[in-house]
Amino acid sequence: MPSVVVTLENTEKQQKLKIDPPSCGLSLQGRLRIPGDKSISHRALMLGALAEGVTTIEGLLLGADPRSTAECFSGLGAEISELNSQQIKVKGCGIGNLQEPDRILDAGNSGTTMRLMLGILASHPDRLFTITGDSSLVKRPMDRVIAPLTQMGATIWGRRSGSFAPLAVHGQQLQPIHYHSPIASAQVKSCILLAGLMVEGATTVTEPALSRDHTERMLKAFGAQLTVNPDTNSVTVFGPAKLQGQTVIVPGDISSAAFWLVAASIVPGSDITIENVGVNPTRTGILEAMAMMGADIQSQGERLVAGEPVADLRVRFSPLKACEIKGDLIPRLIDEIPILAVAAAFAEGTTTIRDAAELRVKESDRIQVMATELTKMGAKISELPDGLEITGGFPLRGAEVDSDTDHRIAMSLAIAALNAAGSTTIHRAEAAAISYPDFVGSLQQLIINN
Ligand code: S3P
Repeated sequence: MPSVVVTLENTEKQQKLKIDPPSCGLSLQGRLRIPGDKSISHRALMLGALAEGVTTIEGLLLGADPRSTAECFSGLGAEISELNSQQIKVKGCGIGNLQEPDRILDAGNSGTTMRLMLGILASHPDRLFTITGDSSLVKRPMDRVIAPLTQMGATIWGRRSGSFAPLAVHGQQLQPIHYHSPIASAQVKSCILLAGLMVEGATTVTEPALSRDHTERMLKAFGAQLTVNPDTNSVTVFGPAKLQGQTVIVPGDISSAAFWLVAASIVPGSDITIENVGVNPTRTGILEAMAMMGADIQSQGERLVAGEPVADLRVRFSPLKACEIKGDLIPRLIDEIPILAVAAAFAEGTTTIRDAAELRVKESDRIQVMATELTKMGAKISELPDGLEITGGFPLRGAEVDSDTDHRIAMSLAIAALNAAGSTTIHRAEAAAISYPDFVGSLQQLIINN
């Protein structure tokens, strides 16, 4: 057990996470299993709710975001067992049979819940749905899904000319479209494909670069008719569809593994293995970026589990060097950019991250927040309109920093703190529970004092 390096202070609603590396140093050692993939967890609950029969989900992420999805779909009539075990059962309603809820649906902090659900609700004729979210989600743009849904004939009202939640949806019989999305977004793609399940004919989405394809994989497994054209980044769903309940085995979330990939790479003497990590090629941009930086990461025992590739990742400390992260790589590591900024702060040279303006409309403005908070720790980091520029090799010092209620910021700052001189306090660290409920437990498990 570590002598006190990590402490948590709970106030009524907020947590302060204090990280105080001993002056003799620490390292990370051992094997770790990480929580289930957030994107796959949302989709398993949603498709389970739309399918006929029972869906069994093993390894669902029991974090706040999937809980929001489960709450919403229970309100719509699906029977979902309590989210407290490794095996969750969903008794679905069948396509088109969700009920008009007698309450406001609350997507909490979860953009995926709100955007994917909008496609499902908009295509349920003659029902009225009202949807809201927390103080972060009501600031995030919903017009990116409302515009294509409106082209399909949807009726959706929202704040600021229909772009922001709270939203009201009056379900309609929608028409098929071929949507050319201006952004590579799995949430946009999935929203339209899910709407297309209820629509007579072929609904197609083409995106400028390939985003995560979990919806496509899972829809096929549930029996939907779907074609993928990898040459044009296009997907077509043929409706009306009929989905049949399945067993879904959720792999570990590579976006959660990313914190440990970077932590072990920057803390001297570290050698850890992260088990059962989802390594779907639309998500492995982090492995490519870390390889460019000279990280020592080995993928072991790659296998296919319920239609998704999975591997164990062994990572050992290795001096990092700067790299350039941009273009089509961005959608494949979009959620890992905050922790990559931490890796860059410890890498020799100047790392630039471009083409990532999307980060400004995530759970926080991740470009601005990472630049501000890492600057407090002494990093040389500056904002670009669409990314960050980080010059590594300047030692970080402990500081008082804040998550801005963003889970990935909270955890990224905690990893930076492991390699900083002196104590760091991360305010509003409770945000980590959105995607990684026992992040602090994992941290304590891996730390070995030198
Ligand atoms: C997600 C897609 C991505 C990602 C988010 C989860 C998903 O968002 O950032 O955390 O599950 O579809 P965008 O579609 O906005 O890029």
